[in-house]
Formats: sequence, C-alpha cells, structure tokens
Amino acid sequence: TKVLSVTSECVPLIKTGGLADVAGALPGALAPHGVEMRTLLPGYPKVIAAMGRKKTVAQWDDLFGGFARVWRGKLGQQVLYVLDAPHLFDRDGGPYSDAMGRDWQDNAERFAALSYAAARICADGIEGWQPQILHCHDWQAGFAPLYLRELGAGDRVKSLLTIHNIAFQGITRASMIERLGLPHSGFNERGYEYWNNISALKAGLVYADKLSTVSPTYASELMTEDFGMGLDGVLQQRQEDLTGILNGIDEGIWSAPYKSPSGKAKHRRALRKEFGLPDWPGPVCVLISRLTEQKGLDLLLQALPALLDRGGQLVLLGSGDRALEQAFLDYAEVHPGVATTIGYDEALARRMIAGGDAILVPSRFEPCGLTQLYGLAHGTLPLVALTGGLADTVINASPAGLAAGAATGVQFHPVTAQALAQALMKLVKLFEDRATWTKMMKNAMAAPVGWSHSASAYAELYRDMARGT
Ligand code: ADP
Ligand code: GLC
Repeated sequence: TKVLSVTSECVPLIKTGGLADVAGALPGALAPHGVEMRTLLPGYPKVIAAMGRKKTVAQWDDLFGGFARVWRGKLGQQVLYVLDAPHLFDRDGGPYSDAMGRDWQDNAERFAALSYAAARICADGIEGWQPQILHCHDWQAGFAPLYLRELGAGDRVKSLLTIHNIAFQGITRASMIERLGLPHSGFNERGYEYWNNISALKAGLVYADKLSTVSPTYASELMTEDFGMGLDGVLQQRQEDLTGILNGIDEGIWSAPYKSPSGKAKHRRALRKEFGLPDWPGPVCVLISRLTEQKGLDLLLQALPALLDRGGQLVLLGSGDRALEQAFLDYAEVHPGVATTIGYDEALARRMIAGGDAILVPSRFEPCGLTQLYGLAHGTLPLVALTGGLADTVINASPAGLAAGAATGVQFHPVTAQALAQALMKLVKLFEDRATWTKMMKNAMAAPVGWSHSASAYAELYRDMARGT
C-alpha cells in the first residue's frame, strides 16, 4: 500500500513532542508490512539544512502568497518530501512559534499550505508515484482530506486522520474562509465550523474517511465530555470510523544499555553523581516532559513530600510553562533529594532513564505517552496516571497484578495530588521489597513496546481503506 504521511514534525529533523517520534518511526516500522510510506514535512530552516542533496519534484507559483516547491530527500531508507515555501517556513524559532514562544500569526495559512500540498500530491501523483492513502497527523494536516475532496480525488485516495492530542485544534477566524480556499458549504456545524470559527482539526475529523488515535483508551475517552475538549460530539458521530492504535518506540534507539535488572546499579550511581544526589535508600525517580497543564506536574509538586520523606529522590528534565520551571528549580534549591534541569536534552534523558528506578508520568490526559515505554524497556518502572495510553501500556501492581506475576508499574486514579502521593508511597514500599521489584523490572523489560503489533494494525487499516471496506 502506498501512503503519504503528512506531519508538522518528524525525527531526526524537527521535534517538539511525541508526534515527531511517531512520524519518524512509522515509515521504517511499516516497510516490513508491505506499506510504502513517504513523508511530507514543512521546509523549516533546520529541515532544509539537514537535507543534503535535493531535487525539485513539484512546484506552485502561488501557494498561499508565495512560490513553493516540493523537494525530495531521504528519511532513513524512505522518501521524504519537504515543502519549501520560504514565505511560510523560512524563519527562526520553532515550528509553531517564534523564539519568544509566541504563535506565528499565520499558522492557519502555514499548515493549510502543507495540507493543500499534500492533497495535490495525492490528487496528481508525484514523480509517477500515486498514493492510495493520505495519512494526516493532528490539526496541522486537518484540512488535507477536505482539499482532497475539493480536488475531486476523494474517491481515488482515502484519508486517515490520527489524533495525537485533541488539545490543539487549529482554530482561526471565520473571515479566513476564502484565504484558506475552503468551500463555504462546509461552514456549518456539520463541517469545519466550530463556534463561529474555523477548526482545522474538526475539518479533519469530519472529512477524513477514517480516524485514529494513539491508544484504545484515549479513543474511548475522546468521546466523553471530560476528554473530548468540545469535539466529543463529533467523535461520537464517527465512532465506527475511530480506532485506537498504540504508539511503539524505536527499540534500536531506546534499548537499555544492560540486559538484566542488576545492570542498572552502575547507571544509578552515575546519575546520582551527575546531580550530586546523596545515596539514599529509596528509589530514584525520573521525569522527562514538556511542562504543561496536561502533564500534571503541579500535582507532583504537592505530592513530592510523600516520596522524599521516605528516602526517594527525583530528577526532573523539562521545559515549557515558566511558572512550573521556576517552581521545580526553587523546589530543588531547598530539597537535597530533588534535581531539576530546565531545557531539552536527549542525551540526558537517556542517562536518566538508564539510571532511574522509576519514571513518573502523572498526566491529566495522555493520548499515548512515550516516556513510560522507554521506562519499561529499561526496567525503570513507570508510575503513571490511569488514563489514555498510560492505562494501556502499564500493568498495575495491584494485588491481582502482583499475584499473577505480571505487574510492570504503578497506576493511580483519580488524577489528584492525594492519589499521586499514595502511589508514591506504594512505589517506595514495592522498592523495599527487592524480590517483587526485581520481578517487576524483568516483566517491564520483557513488555512489548516496539512497533511490530501496531505496525500490522496500521497496515491492515490502510489495506481495508484502499479496498474501500
Ligand atoms: P508529548 O508528545 O505529549 O510531549 P510523549 O511522551 O508522547 O508526550 O513524547 C514526548 C517526547 O519528547 C519523548 O520522546 C520525550 O523523551 C521527549 N522529551 C520531552 N521533553 C524533553 C526534554 N526536556 N528533553 C529531552 N526529551 C524530551
Ligand atoms: C501527543 C500526546 C502523547 C503521544 C504523542 C505521540 O503529543 O500528548 O501522549 O504519545 O502525541 O502520539
């Protein structure tokens, strides 16, 4: 099956979160399943700089206000297409915001352009290559299925929209309809209109042939008021077309530097040394995250005494919300058991996961989550909120889970500071029971966290779509 994947970020070229890991891993993971996936990515300066030899394979004189072309490059063994549109993408800063963290004013046009280019590639073919499936990721690719229909190719090429995070909906003013080249007929409740605005995500949810998200639990949560963020009604209507397919991790990149639980000790020592942490008896907990409301870090600040008072420690790496950054820096200042690093550092993330005993993910919602999977692979036991992909990937150390000898971590619910504090106490207790803890580490390290299962699920979904079933 030939699939064009449309994404606003992709490792190793550009990343702000898990979407990049997933978009970067999919083509390689799917190739053994008979899927030829090519990826379309915006031509941010970083991406173009990393491209090496490139060849123009499509061009438009005026794509949302300027000249644009598609370059062909390589993403691992697969083909990468890069949309070079300097008026939209050639600027310093992040993919969505400037260096100060302010969203670009023209994000609607920037990602509409990406979506339109994707639709044209699917409608016209490119270099003689004709995609059968248009796979769109998040709101940034949300208009693509609608453009595809407008181009009259919706029968030939089927579209899939994957929701990685429904918190981002690509909302823009209604006065942009013409500028974005959207059909007026779709500006209503059953189309891309959302409370008198335009929503790129809703456009995708309405016009894509199929929908998916990154875990089965999040797929059901999305249809509820608590998690749907206003789009639960739309998703309920599309229930039959919505599936949850778990993310995997690239086991080549994220395998542990040791084969058995005993291998961790050396890495724990090194981590403590790196952060000047004293040799306390409790577990070293690590946490690597964007610092946002979603991730529940304010709850952790309240619950931390439950860990520290029992000899546990915390090493935190993250960046985002300035108040949270400062709060964790301040906390580390006065608590010898806590170390905070503000920034983005993949090498450090790796050392933390190798050296930590447990990895914390206290998210309020988590479509899939990747760091708990890295933790499993390293026998760094996840302590997670019982939500989304965290519910689907960790086996709780409940009496039943322990009795069955299957537990791989600790889950807590509801997502409150109190329940988190209790879970931290439970974690310390488990850690003190060396036999149980070692067994859990073994279970975790044996847990399937790679792509093989989910890759076949995607491959099957694409095949059904291409067949029209
Ligand atoms: P989300 O996509 O919501 O941010 P995920 O858990 O799916 O959450 O993915 C986050 C990814 O970003 C993981 O690969 C994680 O290791 C990485 N990451 C997040 N913050 C940092 C950081 N400060 N330094 C290094 N890696 C980070
Ligand atoms: C989103 C979600 C995260 C998920 C990632 C990749 O950013 O917040 O849970 O793992 O996308 O799908």
